[in-house]
Amino acid sequence: MIRVYENEDITKYYIEFRPKYQDCVVEEVLRFCNENRASKTDENRQQVMVDVACGSGQATTPFQKHFENIIGVDVSPNQIKEARLANDFENISYKVGTAEEIPVESGSVDLLISATACHRFDFAKFFKEAKRVLKPDGCMALFSYAPRVTPMNVVDPIIREELADKATNLLLKYHRNPTDEQSNIYCFGKYQDIYKKVPAKNKKWIKDGLVMKYDWSLSQLLGYLRSNAAYQEYMKMMKEKNKDASEDEVKKWDRALMLRDFIKREWKMKGVNDDNVMMRADFSVFLVLANKLTV
Ligand SMILES: C[S@@+](CC[C@H](N)C(=O)[O-])C[C@H]1O[C@@H](n2cnc3c(N)ncnc32)[C@H](O)[C@@H]1O
Repeated sequence: MIRVYENEDITKYYIEFRPKYQDCVVEEVLRFCNENRASKTDENRQQVMVDVACGSGQATTPFQKHFENIIGVDVSPNQIKEARLANDFENISYKVGTAEEIPVESGSVDLLISATACHRFDFAKFFKEAKRVLKPDGCMALFSYAPRVTPMNVVDPIIREELADKATNLLLKYHRNPTDEQSNIYCFGKYQDIYKKVPAKNKKWIKDGLVMKYDWSLSQLLGYLRSNAAYQEYMKMMKEKNKDASEDEVKKWDRALMLRDFIKREWKMKGVNDDNVMMRADFSVFLVLANKLTV
């Protein structure tokens, strides 16, 4: 279970900097639901969706208009507090709870989703819970993403892609979790191993083709990196190993600062304010879709 999101500072980063899922993802998930629903009387609106490990609602709210009732569940009370503060919708509510003990009634859910989180679940317990809460024709969608950053100030496409490759490689290196290699294998493998694990009669793995596109500044990218569990766990590990380190020493291993220096040097943006270093941030989404669970 990821417990780095308990702290209020981190949950504030989270709500400010994590991308919300775009329509292309919602549409892909709903297409699978509609193909596999027993009752097709109302194609556009189903009854109940649950988003487990919802954070502050990044994947919850994009589904708002497609369900009568949506419940976001997260183990972190602070994530739930932020989600509730940001919630403008009467049909969305948030609860503290876990993916392994989902706080909803058996057989009540049309769609169960989990975004950028299930790679840390206890799968044996989670799949049993998923089967318990889903309606007989209910569907499950597990998804996450991989980022790519491309400079906006470079005209030559070959140079632009080379600079994008270099910065993205470093960003992805910093996405590797220092304490949980299994979650790295799941994420860098685009959830293929999770797809294989899902016990379902009907399942589908979408590994590419869905890209969410954002225009970001370097400040936004650094906020995003700082909101990552891998970054937080690395900083915690380094601070524990170097208990007497001064602030200046901490800066030397701060991966957000290292990424900032690298990008500004490589992209020839030294001296430019972080807010004015603009980039295209593409998030390539991979999904595991399933129904008729067999546990
Ligand atoms: C990387 S965030 C993802 C948040 C959001 N779904 C998104 O896509 O941005 C992971 C979240 O999972 C929550 N979490 C981790 N393990 C959990 C579990 N077993 N049950 C419920 N929540 C969990 C954490 O508290 C955190 O808010």
